[in-house]
Formats: sequence, structure tokens, C-alpha cells
Amino acid sequence: MSKRTPIIAGNWKMNNTVAGAEALVKELAPLVKGAKAEVVVCVPYTAIATAVKAAKGTNIAVGAQNVAWADSGAFTGEISADMLLDLGVKYAIIGHSERRTMFGETDESVNKRTKQAIKKGLIAIVCIGETLQERESGAMEKVLKNQINGAFADIPASDLKSVVVAYEPVWAIGTGVTATKEQAQDTCFFVRNCLANLYGQAEAQKIRIQYGGSMNGNNVDELMAQPDIDGGLIGGASLKAPDFARVVNFN
Ligand code: PGA
Repeated sequence: MSKRTPIIAGNWKMNNTVAGAEALVKELAPLVKGAKAEVVVCVPYTAIATAVKAAKGTNIAVGAQNVAWADSGAFTGEISADMLLDLGVKYAIIGHSERRTMFGETDESVNKRTKQAIKKGLIAIVCIGETLQERESGAMEKVLKNQINGAFADIPASDLKSVVVAYEPVWAIGTGVTATKEQAQDTCFFVRNCLANLYGQAEAQKIRIQYGGSMNGNNVDELMAQPDIDGGLIGGASLKAPDFARVVNFN
């Protein structure tokens, strides 16, 4: 494990009603009490108010799964940073691969959303990752570098404390196929070097990089033992309190 504070974030995706969210956060709270990692649950918008209330007085923070780049106005279907802050949200996932592939998110929109999140005082969890075809054809490094350069365009080093990077190989998301600990470490090391190219090695060493993609209780210990992996973004295994708690309480 690195010297950076680990951060384990659940990404509930489009799951859980209000009642389900309340029950899950309440069941989770005693199981993750005193965890050495920062604990975050990124819940659907409709469950935010309830999740924040249920997490009050615990070490669980609540995140959203996206955030608009604009302050307010004619952006049907979007949710602004102020709306999230109003409810007590601290984190926002930005540029998840599902948003990139199904909802037209681009490196440019990821950059705009990230800048807005930082400006407003949210912590941005910026997602990047290659497809299997990109990995196998040898394009992975170029793809990741482009995603990083795009996401971080015009973001000064002084803002990096408000950013977490989530490296999620698309082929490992929701598939049950996790990257091996060597693949995950090598790629997170590469990601950190891309950040070092932009900001210098000292700044890059401070940025937390999560691995995501079928992380669960069976593989979290070996993944978190890698020097450049500082946390996880957890989908499927975040939907049941004991499963998520096992990941949070990694060895
Ligand atoms: P998974 O999802 O853990 O179900 O693979 C991770 C993610 O999409 O963030």
C-alpha cells in the first residue's frame, strides 16, 4: 500500500430506490466504521438526500455519478454542482466508461465537468480506461495518454488535490474478469507517469489512482498491495453491504 490515503468508492450505477439506499447505507455504516480507507458511495441522484441523511455521523461520504459543466440554466437532464453540494455531496464520478460509450461523453466534456467540479469544491473521480481491442492492438498507452491529457487540459497543479483518477479497463467492468495485479499495477504506474509528464513527478506522486473493474473481496488485497494502486471504484460488489465492507476493510 502506498503512503497516499486509500479511497474506496462504491458506484451503485442505476440501482437502488430510496428505501433500498437507506437500508444499504445503514447496514454498511457499522461494518466500515474505523476503516483506514476513505469510504464513498456514489448513488443515483434520487437517493442522494436519503443516503446523506443515513450516512450522517458515520465515516461514509456520498458522491454523485456525474455533474454538469455549467452553473445552471437550459441543460435538460443535467444536475449542477450547486444542487449536489446543497444535498451534502462531496464527490462526483466523471467520465465513467458507460457514460463515454452510451451517452456521448468525450474527453472534452470530461474536462469541462472536472473543471466545474473542482471550481465548486467537489472531489472529481475522473475515469479513464482502454477497451480490450485497444489493449490487444497495442493502442492502450496512446488511448490512456489522450484521455489523461484531455481530462486534465488547463487544470493547474494547485487543483490536483480535488482530483482522484480511476483507472478502469473497460473489459474488466461488470465482466467478472479483473485485471491481474501485474496488469493493474503496470497500468496505474503508466497513468501516474502520464500525470508526471503534465505536472512533474512530485505532484504525480500525490494523486490517488483507483483501480476499477470487477474488484471484490477476492482480489482487493492483492490489488491494494500494489504501490501505484491507491483505492478502488467498485460496481457490483458495492451493492451488498458485507461485500462492499470486505473491500473497504482490505488487508
Ligand atoms: P464493476 O464496476 O466493479 O461491477 O466491474 C466498476 C465500475 O464500473 O466502476
